Order: sequence, then C-alpha cells, then structure tokens
Amino acid sequence: MEISPLSNALGASVTGVDIGKINQDQFAEIHRAFLDYQLLVFREQQLDAEAQIAFSKRFGPIETRPDRPFTLPGYPEVTILSNRLIDDEPVGVISAGDFWHTDLSFGEIPCRVTFLYALEVAKEGGDTEWSNIYTAYDALSDKMKERIAELSCIHVFDRRRNKRTKVDTQFIDKAEEVYGVTIPDAVHPMVRHHPETGRKSLYISPRFVVGIEGVDDDEAQSLLDELFEHQIRPEFRYRHRWRRGDLLMWDNPCLIHVGHGNIKPPGIRHMHRTMVLGDRPH
Ligand code: OGA
Ligand code: MN
Repeated sequence: MEISPLSNALGASVTGVDIGKINQDQFAEIHRAFLDYQLLVFREQQLDAEAQIAFSKRFGPIETRPDRPFTLPGYPEVTILSNRLIDDEPVGVISAGDFWHTDLSFGEIPCRVTFLYALEVAKEGGDTEWSNIYTAYDALSDKMKERIAELSCIHVFDRRRNKRTKVDTQFIDKAEEVYGVTIPDAVHPMVRHHPETGRKSLYISPRFVVGIEGVDDDEAQSLLDELFEHQIRPEFRYRHRWRRGDLLMWDNPCLIHVGHGNIKPPGIRHMHRTMVLGDRPH
C-alpha cells in the first residue's frame, strides 16, 4: 500500500489496496493516514453496495434516514447522487452539496465520515472541493481565537431559512416536502475538538450555520461573513477531479466541502454515498 499526499492543504491518495478485502494491518494504516490527511482517495476500486457498507461500518454506525430521497433500492444506507434522467425523472440527487458545508451538521450527532464512490464520471464538471478547517482555525489571530472560543452556532437544515443559500432547482416544487421535515435545529460549538486527534477546527459553514447563540444578529452575521470567507482561503483547499472507480472518504469534523456541479451534457456522473455518524461536537 502506498500513500501519497495530494496537496499541501489536505488529502492523500492510497494505491495498492482493494477496499473489498483489507486485513487488520491495512485497516490500521488506512486509519492512521485518514487522521493525518483528512481525505483519502482510493483509485480503481470495484465496490458493490455491500462492500461499501461493510467498509464504511468499520468507522462508525451508518446513518440512515427513513425519509431520505434517492436511496438505493434495498439499501437505505446508500444514497444515489446522479444527474441521470430516466423518462425525464432524476434517478438520484442532482446537486448534492452545492454550498460549502460539513455533512449533517444540522443534526445533534453529525456525520463523522462520508464515503463517496464514483461509478460513472463526466468528461467535464462534477469536481468536489474540500477546505481544511483545522488549518483555518490555526490561522486565526489570537484575538479572534479568544473572541470565538466560547461561541455556539445554530445549524439549520431548511434552506428557506438561510439567506446564504437557495433551494435547489430539483426540489423547487417540493420545497415544503424536502425542507419542511421536522429536523430540529442543532447548536454546536464554533470551535470543535476532533473526536480522535483532539485538534480544534472552525466548525461552521455557510450552508448550515445561520446564527450565533446569544449574539446580536447584526454582529453575528458580520462575524460569520468574515469567518466564512476566511475558512475557504485558497491555501486551505484541495479540488478533486473524479475518475471512475474512485472511492473517497473524508473527515467531516475537520473539513468543509462543496460540489461544483456544472456537468457538461451529455456527461453522466453517478455515485454511491454512505455516511457514518460520529460524536456530539464538543
Ligand atoms: C455530499 C456532497 C458533493 C459532490 O454528497 O454530501 O457534498 O460533489 N457531495 O457530490
Ligand atoms: Mn456533503
């Protein structure tokens, strides 16, 4: 197994391993690299849904939501991301993650690791990009670190309540059905400690954070604007150009990410996603 860094910001590619058949030693090495690089790219994998689920489960309990749209038939653990239409109907979520975010931060127990496996990729478009919120935190001034140390943020699922996002066109006629679901808001510390490394991260994102608890809204919004801009400085980022057979896994407590979309027709990007849950942010 060979591990090579993908950028100065984050990420490593892992070759010489078949994710469908890893032994304990390989698992330990992958786990170590995951903590060191936050995002791992396994090229040329051949994974069916069961193998992806089995690998995912080694990192935590799989997240399933009974009302989640576009799960794989028979596998509520797997969500289909796809721009394919059959009889004009989408077969998957067309533009998952179109604003910078960290997965499921609107939940009391957010997602720890996301696994995304590319079954088909388009010639142009469909890149995903990550930004390292460990280093974003570290790069703040001491004064700012002090200012935000004890703050907690309000994370909201419903896009209609977030002025920094808009409802996806795919769901525009079904906004109430998709966003009106009763998911209570979550309150998480702005500075999160990673459950395994203990390192601090700037755990906010424009997709989900709409306010700061106990802080006057004008002040909160201008502080958030400043921090949202800071957390995606180019030197914190890595952008991935997908290949068919890529399996990526990323560590949500210390990364935010965005799906760039813009797939050029007639390109088809078709992916299987699994997510495992982590700790309650502290
Ligand atoms: C996600 C996500 C980005 C992409 O599925 O959570 O953010 O590029 N996807 O598909
Ligand atoms: Mn996401």
